Amino acid sequence: KHILLLGAPGAGKGTQSKRLAAEFDLEHVTTGDALRANKDMDISDMDFEYDTPREYMDAGELVPDDVVNEIVKTALREADGYVLDGYPRNLDQAEYLTEITDLDAVVYLDVSEDELVDRLTGRRVCPDCGANYHVEFAPPEEEGVCDECGAELIQRDDDTEETVRERLSVYRENTEPVVEHYREEGVLVEVEGEQTPDDVFEDVAAVVEDA
Ligand code: AP5
Ligand code: ZN
Repeated sequence: KHILLLGAPGAGKGTQSKRLAAEFDLEHVTTGDALRANKDMDISDMDFEYDTPREYMDAGELVPDDVVNEIVKTALREADGYVLDGYPRNLDQAEYLTEITDLDAVVYLDVSEDELVDRLTGRRVCPDCGANYHVEFAPPEEEGVCDECGAELIQRDDDTEETVRERLSVYRENTEPVVEHYREEGVLVEVEGEQTPDDVFEDVAAVVEDA
């Protein structure tokens, strides 16, 4: 199955994609994680504003399409079934995606802006295994320590309040039109994202089941 998960920064795409991938035996393809793993990749020969993905990400801006499209193309070529998260983030990326693959379901996680800010500024992540926590909504058993592997949790560089605001504004300007595009095509399935992670999962899994 080819599943696309859309939603604003903090809507729960990462949380739900990981579970979907495990439950339905799909590849989790995420541009955010791929870029974080290659933050210091030298893209200076491509003549963009900045020389590494890190500079775009820490500013809350989008990494150039040429860099991201290439990552997605390679990842999707290697995947049989997949759940795609973090892409497409503008209409050009959406058009590119149409050229390289077909989709069985497009799910949109709907979450209000106030909730997004709370989720992102309170998020903590494990630098070793990638597990995801929230200081209030999904705390680890021992404060600051990963339940899965015992590593010390960190805050993502782009989860400061200032960068969060910028990411949300970039989302409104560039990515909301992508949501509208799939809505107009009649393929968008909206899921109420402001429920417990388990309840959100139940709704998303029902869509994937039928896809
Ligand atoms: P990326 O990593 O994709 O970040 P994002 O879209 O901003 O999404 P997040 O990972 O922040 O949130 P999420 O929706 O996955 O939420 P999560 O499940 O973690 O992108 C980062 C940067 O990379 C971009 O700014 C850009 O620079 C670059 N980039 C990436 N893709 C790109 C592209 N295609 N083109 C160009 N540039 C690109 O949940 C958030 C928090 O809420 C967690 O703490 C979690 O525990 C908690 N939570 C989750 N679900 C619930 C719930 N139901 N109730 C309460 N709390 C919850
Ligand atoms: Zn861990």
